Amino acid sequence: MNTWDQNLRRVIIALDFPEASEANAFLARWEKSEKPFVKVGMQLFYAAGPRWVSHLVEEGYPVFLDVKLHDIPHTVAGGVRSLARLGVEWITLHASGGIRMMEAAKEAAETSTNQKAPRLLAVTQLTSTDQQMMNHELGIPGTVQERVLAYAQLAKQAGMAGVVCSGWEATKIKSRVDSTLITVTPGIRLAGQDQGDQKRVMTPEQAVQSGADYLVVGRSITQAKNPVAMYESITRSIGQDQ
Ligand code: C5P
Repeated sequence: MNTWDQNLRRVIIALDFPEASEANAFLARWEKSEKPFVKVGMQLFYAAGPRWVSHLVEEGYPVFLDVKLHDIPHTVAGGVRSLARLGVEWITLHASGGIRMMEAAKEAAETSTNQKAPRLLAVTQLTSTDQQMMNHELGIPGTVQERVLAYAQLAKQAGMAGVVCSGWEATKIKSRVDSTLITVTPGIRLAGQDQGDQKRVMTPEQAVQSGADYLVVGRSITQAKNPVAMYESITRSIGQDQ
């Protein structure tokens, strides 16, 4: 079962820019079209700050705030309470923080003073971790896929709206954990394109066929000659018209 909000575009552009000015210049290309769903990660959030994010929301951009929170439950709840005021759609946190941390975050989001509570997405096992590192450096037994499914299960128990996972795990999360968990998948590359530093990539079509509800696309769009045309073409390729 696919779980996406009809009001949100399924292709999310990762605004991986070092400064607000660069992100603004990039977004100016969308002046005449519908505002895309954008992801603001740590780099841009720390550089541009919460006011810039609020401004983006006021301008009509749906924002996915990918700040991957992880701390004691009380502190994460406080962080979510502050971030919830920005009016963003989604905020990420690490499932490895445990059920209590995720529940505290959820309660903070739902009791936020903002009219619209942000939805929380749990990061499962980072794609930069391979099995060797997980088993021998972090001391976590089992395969990466088992870990991802276990974290997805924790996220479900804690009432998270969804998870961030690779396209390779989306199907199993939907079939074995919960078909209604939103699956958000990075690591998207177009057919024939350079993989860059991403190890396990999928095309947009493959990711959607594998159960990804939303696709996070960074460089394939931000470094394209015509980013708007590239965004629209990816959007069309997964059957969502502009
Ligand atoms: O440029 P590219 O399409 O590889 O960008 C992918 C985006 O998704 C980046 O912002 C990256 O930080 C994020 N991401 C990822 N893998 C994860 C979690 C997030 O690539 N496991």
